[in-house]
Amino acid sequence: MSVTNKFKKQILCIGAGYVGGPTMAMIAAKCPDYKVTVVDINAARIDAWNTDHLPIFEPGLLEVVKISRGRNLFFSTDVDAAIRDADIIFVSVNTPTKTFGEGAGRAADLQYWEKTARNIVKCSGSDKIIIEKSTLPVRTAAAMERILNANDKGIHFEVLSNPEFLAEGTAIADLENPDRVLIGSQMNESGLRACQEVVDIYAHWIPRERILTSNVWSSELSKLVANAFLAQRISSINSISALCEKTEADVKEVSRAIGKDCRIGSRFLNASVGFGGSCFKKDILNLVYICECYGLTDVARYWESVVLMNDYQKRRFVQNMLRVMFNTIAGKRIALFGFAFKADTGDTRESPAIDIARQLIEERAHVVISDPEALENAAHDLGECGSSSVEYVGDPYKAVAGAHAIAIMTEWKLYMELDYKKIFDSMEKPAFIFDGRNILDHQKLYDLGFNVFPLGTTPLKHF
Ligand SMILES: NC(=O)c1ccc[n+]([C@@H]2O[C@H](COP(=O)([O-])OP(=O)(O)OC[C@H]3O[C@@H](n4cnc5c(N)ncnc54)[C@H](O)[C@@H]3O)[C@@H](O)[C@H]2O)c1
Repeated sequence: MSVTNKFKKQILCIGAGYVGGPTMAMIAAKCPDYKVTVVDINAARIDAWNTDHLPIFEPGLLEVVKISRGRNLFFSTDVDAAIRDADIIFVSVNTPTKTFGEGAGRAADLQYWEKTARNIVKCSGSDKIIIEKSTLPVRTAAAMERILNANDKGIHFEVLSNPEFLAEGTAIADLENPDRVLIGSQMNESGLRACQEVVDIYAHWIPRERILTSNVWSSELSKLVANAFLAQRISSINSISALCEKTEADVKEVSRAIGKDCRIGSRFLNASVGFGGSCFKKDILNLVYICECYGLTDVARYWESVVLMNDYQKRRFVQNMLRVMFNTIAGKRIALFGFAFKADTGDTRESPAIDIARQLIEERAHVVISDPEALENAAHDLGECGSSSVEYVGDPYKAVAGAHAIAIMTEWKLYMELDYKKIFDSMEKPAFIFDGRNILDHQKLYDLGFNVFPLGTTPLKHF
């Protein structure tokens, strides 16, 4: 029996990134009867997936990969051969915001998706199920069906939508125990049959009632809407943080009070320096663009305000730093604690820390960046800023030595556990802390001598 025949079906995932890698590792671990291959054009990424130094930092991921790597989970750069052999193809390539031409700055750039679709047609010799795992504009499946099924080989491709709802930092728990899995298909016979094949995969470990099926358009749109609603909650509470600072209300108390209302719920109500990550901004802008294309200008403006509020919050944070540090930070050493867009990931895409660092550098501050997982990405993000204005220091105690201020950018647990007495002693005075995540014990820091500026509440200052 060949290796191939041992398995019930062959699954392929095109795109070995933050979504493709963890998702396929989980499917392979839970479905030993399926062969799962993950391919990417980025050879360095594939090489890393085949070592113990995975290309992304995600708690618990290596353990899951190790369950099945070499058994029924394979990482490869041979995209064409893998397409040929696959029965079911998940496409998890990147879909960034378009930077050129029509819809630049808003629309999704579908070039990677379309190239992949054309390659699937070229390399295929049999019918296949093609699954949109990437986040895509509503009705993309229609365009993809057209491209895929315009082949003269008599091959039928059934396009499904199965958006990914995992969050970086908790990807393994999210994949193991998701709130729901969503599978969208055409409502005809072949669509529903293909849908059932994908349901069968997830049903290996997910209770059937949490596997939702819908029409393909609802599925595509639901992913954009989920991200828009999540980001909207952050922008909403951040807008209130600004009002709290003017009124002596405390945003943490407001969050607690409203979050107890089960119609509202308590999650995603922490005021912060702003949301980041590769998805929220891009997906809302995509939603805005789609609304504009359908002539729904008011709907577009409504959702766009979520992104505008996020920009405002970042700007406001730096303006506040500047104002309280006597209207000049030129030449002052400022330590940023954290650069990843959130804790437990090394991902810095769209991290608020990028904008904060750039604005501080524009004010001629000397910025020192510390982060347990994201220093390499940070150096890449700020490459244009030059080494005279920015430094990367892993050890937070070294990063703060001689600093005038600390700004908390990421809610890493380690920043809650530092010896702030030791830190205070090594800093210039007056020493400032700007808590962009509201994670520290502000009263304790004030008692040590710091001037403390939390978000959304009255600052604690010695002058
Ligand atoms: N990152 C998240 O938390 C998250 C969550 C849910 C959904 N998504 C969506 O999933 C999709 C992928 O996101 P990601 O964060 O994994 O992106 P990523 O950039 O980490 O990974 C995408 C990978 O696709 C590869 N690729 C591009 N074109 C290819 C081609 N023609 N053939 C083979 N490989 C190709 C790239 O080299 C890259 O490694 C996006 O649409 C995103 O919106 C992301």
